[in-house]
Amino acid sequence: MSDEVVLRAVRESQSERSEIIFPGDANALGNLFGGRLMQFMDLTGAMAASRHARAITVTASMDHLDFVAPVHVGDLLILKASVNRAFKTSMEVGVKAMVEDVRKQRLRHVSSAYITFVAVDQNGAGLVVPQLLLETDHQRRRYEDAGRRREMRAGETARRKRLREELTADWHL
Ligand SMILES: CC(C)(COP(=O)(O)OP(=O)(O)OC[C@H]1O[C@@H](n2cnc3c(N)ncnc32)[C@H](O)[C@@H]1OP(=O)(O)O)[C@@H](O)C(=O)NCCC(=O)NCCS
Repeated sequence: MSDEVVLRAVRESQSERSEIIFPGDANALGNLFGGRLMQFMDLTGAMAASRHARAITVTASMDHLDFVAPVHVGDLLILKASVNRAFKTSMEVGVKAMVEDVRKQRLRHVSSAYITFVAVDQNGAGLVVPQLLLETDHQRRRYEDAGRRREMRAGETARRKRLREELTADWHL
């Protein structure tokens, strides 16, 4: 097996998705449900992760999710995702959601999240992903920040994993 490190540029996997919000996705106030927005963010993030890995990816965790402003029925929602850092089998993807004011040609930030995806094969076994080729200072800053977030997340991920292992197979609430 080759030990050669595969590099892939951020721009090769950057992904975008647009949605017009319909009443079926709204609450009684006419605002988009948070869970539906999370779904759009997860899907857009998965596009970037799968493009980077050139493989199936599964969502491992979503953190630092901020709902900054509401999204209304009729709004044009724009979601953008890019891989911040690739680790071994996992990748942190930053997803930003914005509403486009089509008359004023302006974008309003409504939400953002960091989502970790793991690349897997058809049997669900982890796959080593390419490392990121960093081309701009902005990408280098996001790469460094993703490393710090992984360190912060690691202790909690390990603690929860131990807890799950202690539970019996028939455990339920
Ligand atoms: C995510 C998943 C593949 C991790 O499996 P695991 O056996 O815990 O794997 P490991 O401990 O070997 O970790 C594999 C990678 O995932 C990362 N990881 C695991 N749990 C994580 C978490 N909660 N948050 C962030 N990263 C996580 C590890 O850091 C590791 O990354 P690395 O290879 O880049 O170092 C597994 O828990 C899974 O399949 N979960 C369900 C995923 C899914 O179905 N998502 C859709 C929701 S319905």
